[in-house]
Amino acid sequence: MLGVPTCAVIAKQNPGIQVTVVDLSEARIAAWKSNALPIFEPDLFSVVEVARDGTDGRAPNLHFSTDIAAAIDEADLIFIAVNTPTKTAGLGAGKASNLAYVESAARMIAEAATSDKIVVEKSTVPCGTAESLRTIFAALAPSLTFDILSNPEFLAEGTAISDLLRPDRILIGSLNDARSKSAAEALAQVYTWVPRSQIITVNIWSSELAKLAANCMLAQRISSINSLSAICEATGAEIEELAQVVGLDSRIGDRMLKASAGFGGSCFKKDVLSLVYIAESLHLEEVAAHWKTVVDLNEYQKNRFARRITRALHNTLADKRIAILGWAYKKNTRDTRESAAITIAGQLLAEGALLAIYDPLVSQNQILQDLADVHPNADSVIKIYSDATAACVDACAVVIMTEWDEFKADRITQTTLDKLADSNTHDQQLESTSTSSSSDSGIDVQDDTAENASDSPAPGLDKRIDWRSIAAVVRRPRLVFDGRNVVDADALASLGFRVQSIGKAD
Ligand code: UGA
Repeated sequence: MLGVPTCAVIAKQNPGIQVTVVDLSEARIAAWKSNALPIFEPDLFSVVEVARDGTDGRAPNLHFSTDIAAAIDEADLIFIAVNTPTKTAGLGAGKASNLAYVESAARMIAEAATSDKIVVEKSTVPCGTAESLRTIFAALAPSLTFDILSNPEFLAEGTAISDLLRPDRILIGSLNDARSKSAAEALAQVYTWVPRSQIITVNIWSSELAKLAANCMLAQRISSINSLSAICEATGAEIEELAQVVGLDSRIGDRMLKASAGFGGSCFKKDVLSLVYIAESLHLEEVAAHWKTVVDLNEYQKNRFARRITRALHNTLADKRIAILGWAYKKNTRDTRESAAITIAGQLLAEGALLAIYDPLVSQNQILQDLADVHPNADSVIKIYSDATAACVDACAVVIMTEWDEFKADRITQTTLDKLADSNTHDQQLESTSTSSSSDSGIDVQDDTAENASDSPAPGLDKRIDWRSIAAVVRRPRLVFDGRNVVDADALASLGFRVQSIGKAD
């Protein structure tokens, strides 16, 4: 999914290099050529515009095409940036990475190439994949030389462009011979904007494994802090304070220590399970068991959060309306893969709840598609809104699942508090009005066709929800479950909410 941002940045930073992105899907390539890009990433559109359309006066050097064979044959260097999802069937199902797309990309390259190429693994792949590629090339195109390099990507969604422009490091893995090292040097030259000291060259197997290891260690940090959040909730310690103190140790550092209702995204679970599978294949049972706990803990954290909501609502959710704010697995993306919101919504629906869902960027179709896998008749028990306050009307609980800036409550100022004191009676009136009106009225369904025509930020992403209005429309005791610790709990408390945060006793 993020191969294009990488290529767009490479093209923008190197006006002298022609970059062609190829895909089998006509629709996807058409979207990349249009003003409604198929993915949202802050600042992506402006980078694409410069390189694709030459808006800075250059000759365009970023091209999109479905003519894969022609692009392969013209290229000196080819990135393989296809998906490597978890296998769903066969050997290693549920853990091993499915390398079918990598293999078919290699076959296409071998069949279309008429000259030597440098082939670069961008996708996250298990250690040893380069050897499989070498075998394919040797069998299908024995008269040509393919230098295989590993150059994994470390960008995160939602911050892809800034991560690409200011990477912590660029990792290039090659074989130990002179030819492979000179191919690695040619690839290093592409990263013109990165200081040479930050371009690390290692052996190809280290490079493949380092990418998996980095993701697994990041996921492990989140599972570790989440495990501590359970202890905090039971003891009165506060996870934010704990993370601050622990993170101030320069050996530990303060990033990726934000407790949450569980990590999501297409990478962490897949990569941890892939490492578990590699360890099992090597008969390293204890190593496999060690990493498996990272994923198990994440499932536990999601279940724990759903149970906490159920408990606070007297262990019965039947026909209770619950508002879910946020569906994406993190802010600034419309990606929902493995989003904790999906698991938690599934569990609340299993208890009989009615869900009112709002996300500033995720489409209605996507939410319905995600829920189809976890509930047989999801469309009859959920409603999707394009406004947070509308989603909260009559809600017995508001559950925050994504850390969108929009959900943050500004610190309450004295003026606001004064206004609040004046308007208590008015609020009471508003509340009874909205409670008596049907929750089905005024439903505001999200426009599914609203793709991003531009970026930074996407339309509406700079707004803030008005918690005061929400206080007036939710049911008492105005429960908020903050699955991302994004709101200022004290500010919300002064509006009459009872906020339950991750890693903080009720
Ligand atoms: C992750 C890695 O961070 C990237 O370095 C890597 O390149 C990428 O996978 C990949 O392999 O493609 P990504 O999944 O896009 O990036 O996003 P993260 O920012 O890592 O967040 C993943 C999940 O962890 C999100 O659900 C996020 O909300 C959660 N998270 C993150 C926490 O719960 N706590 C934190 O402190 C940080």
